[in-house]
Amino acid sequence: PSRSQLPPITPDHMDTLLAGTRMRRNRQTDWSRRLVRENTLTVDDLIWPVFLTDGEKMRQPVASMPDVFRLSVDEAVREAERAAELGIPAMALFPYTDPDLRDETGSEALNANNLTCRALKAIKAEGLNLGLMTDVALDPYTSHGHDGLMDGETILNDETVDRLCRQALVQAQAGADVIAPSDMMDGRVAAIRQSLDAQGFRDTQIMAYSAKYASAFYGPFRDAVGSSGALKGDKRTYQMDPANTDEALRETELDIAEGADMVMVKPGLPYLDIVRRIKDTFQVPTYAYQVSGEYAMIKAAGANGWLDDERAMMESLMAFKRAGADGVLTYFAPKAAAILADAG
Ligand code: PBG
Repeated sequence: PSRSQLPPITPDHMDTLLAGTRMRRNRQTDWSRRLVRENTLTVDDLIWPVFLTDGEKMRQPVASMPDVFRLSVDEAVREAERAAELGIPAMALFPYTDPDLRDETGSEALNANNLTCRALKAIKAEGLNLGLMTDVALDPYTSHGHDGLMDGETILNDETVDRLCRQALVQAQAGADVIAPSDMMDGRVAAIRQSLDAQGFRDTQIMAYSAKYASAFYGPFRDAVGSSGALKGDKRTYQMDPANTDEALRETELDIAEGADMVMVKPGLPYLDIVRRIKDTFQVPTYAYQVSGEYAMIKAAGANGWLDDERAMMESLMAFKRAGADGVLTYFAPKAAAILADAG
């Protein structure tokens, strides 16, 4: 009988129907759980941030990041090969700069033969199917630990942007595939795009740290690149206030208009609402950075036996996919890739 020939659904009848709804039916078996699964995490979702150091055959442990090392260039080449074998699409490079090379203006950032550029050239020479990303910001190179040029207490916007353009250019010349401005200066994406284009680097991609918050979760990273001891004050005049959401949409809209190919939210897990709003609003490739502090928390709890860190890792990575991220920068990348490979 068609619906119209049946008696109307009474409140009592509705109760009977609802009593028949059993959400657990679909969860009974592994095959059924797989069948109803809404999101998937694959190796293609991973970007691996790697720290660099001078020297040879060096793997310096980062105290606040168990199983993370600062790698000399030769070791970084080996890890790049491993990343490519695992199928990780891209690696992001972060230098620990010798304190003697740091100065007020971060001039080492513009040295075409600095640690990052040497690593880029060495890894590129391997001809791997692996994208290389580089951070554009002055903080690993400045004596004061800030991302920009300073006049007294003030971070100078436009003067900094000029230097960032030159930094991006030396990185592109050394072989960077993706330039990732993490400095949060105004107008830097447009300026970097223009200067790259003018120098013939039209195909170099830009992943903008669009919504980067002034966060306590960067602590272990600053140890890893050696900028924590030096940092005077905080970064709240350029990184975003953790209380804001609409502002993240404005930042992202500007970066897209200025020429960003991909946008990023940082930190990750505490900011999944931002990831979701950006993805829903702009439909552009959107990434999240599971930062050093997030990594350290999971590893520390695991080391204490307070949780299963491998499961917490996989669950957190899936959370990014659920929030709409197209990929995740994560120090867990090689570990997660290996687990995904075993599962497949
Ligand atoms: C540099 C930069 C930072 C991170 C990435 N790029 C630190 C900062 O802004 O102070 C943090 C990454 C992490 O914590 O894993 N501008």
